[in-house]
Amino acid sequence: MIIEALELENYRNYESLNLELSRGTNIFYGDNAQGKTNILESVYMGCTTKSHKRSRDREIVRFGTDESHIRIFLKKNEIDYKIDMHIRKNKRKSVAVNGMPIKKASELLGIAKLIFFSPEDLNIIKNGPSERRRFIDIELCQLSRNYLNNLINYNKCLEQRNRLMKDITFGAYGKDEVSAALDVWDEELVRFGSSIINERRDFIEKLNIIINGINKSITGKEENLELKYEPSVDCDNYEEKLKSGRKQDMKYFTTSAGPHHDDMSFLLEGIDLRRFGSQGQQRTASLSLKLSEIEIVKNSVNDDPVLLLDDVLSELDSRRQNCLLGHLGKVQTLVTCTGLDEFIKNRFETDRVFNVDQGKIKLEAGKSDKLEV
Ligand SMILES: Nc1ncnc2c1ncn2[C@@H]1O[C@H](COP(=O)(O)OP(=O)(O)OP(=O)(O)O)[C@@H](O)[C@H]1O
Ligand SMILES: [Mg+2]
Repeated sequence: MIIEALELENYRNYESLNLELSRGTNIFYGDNAQGKTNILESVYMGCTTKSHKRSRDREIVRFGTDESHIRIFLKKNEIDYKIDMHIRKNKRKSVAVNGMPIKKASELLGIAKLIFFSPEDLNIIKNGPSERRRFIDIELCQLSRNYLNNLINYNKCLEQRNRLMKDITFGAYGKDEVSAALDVWDEELVRFGSSIINERRDFIEKLNIIINGINKSITGKEENLELKYEPSVDCDNYEEKLKSGRKQDMKYFTTSAGPHHDDMSFLLEGIDLRRFGSQGQQRTASLSLKLSEIEIVKNSVNDDPVLLLDDVLSELDSRRQNCLLGHLGKVQTLVTCTGLDEFIKNRFETDRVFNVDQGKIKLEAGKSDKLEV
């Protein structure tokens, strides 16, 4: 897929923007706080309905105004799509594709595939398990509608079960009613949760096929990197685990077992990088994970995703930069950076260069123009 153009109205620090993008590498450079990340965020938002920063809709609307618009013009398999997103401060956002309103975010995820890469991604091993689950969820939701539906249903059931335990404690139900009602939620959790576990296991297996080679190419060493899925429960004894944990769960109104407690570890030559890895080893393995993700999305969806790279190049040494850029291939990429030096120094191919200054964007160089320092 290719994003051909982006239009914004009252989005963060952009009052109005009309941008035509190249199908190759688009660079957005400028000083801090000028609106570079906001551009990538608006593309991510327009294609997924959510901000990569997990911002609320009302935070996105430009200060002093009540509503924002994002319009994305994209081409996929020779078909043109126009995504129209209307974000309001005090109401739900609405989305239309080619003029037809859509109700579910999943309809949008079927059209657009994006990979967002920010410096925080390099900390995925260092950070807590929720960040690793988030990585898996974001990817799988783009790749599998089944996964997205199961995850939505699982989270709903989890909320219901936890709320029921609270109601019970405060005496809203009799004893028999209680255990029958909890049985129902346990069954539902096992149904949706098992599918989530199975899809996560398959996904991590797929990553494993790719990640080791990538990690070796970055480090230049013959060390094996392996991802290990750490599910909180086995599908085989999932229901028993929920039942045996019920008494404890009732104390805290939480559910102690299930995919919402899953994790994933990174083993380098069998050693757990989360606990024993150096910062450099952790960052290299995180980069390898991100590059594996690009490969998987490219292979699985039979279409090229669009890459959004937010200020990552400055975080990497030139060997790692080259590995990253080597993996981009011909995929459409939107990159932000504060200076152009890195690009020129490393002779990266740049198709369009935009300067970002206080919510205004100026095209500085097109394909035929040569960049010089
Ligand atoms: N709702 C909003 N309305 C108006 N301006 C906003 C809104 N939300 C954020 N901003 C402004 O957007 C600017 C930040 O933009 P952004 O994060 O895109 O900067 P950046 O160019 O990526 O900077 P850096 O190089 O530091 O990452 C800030 O000046 C901030 O005040
Ligand atoms: Mg930024």
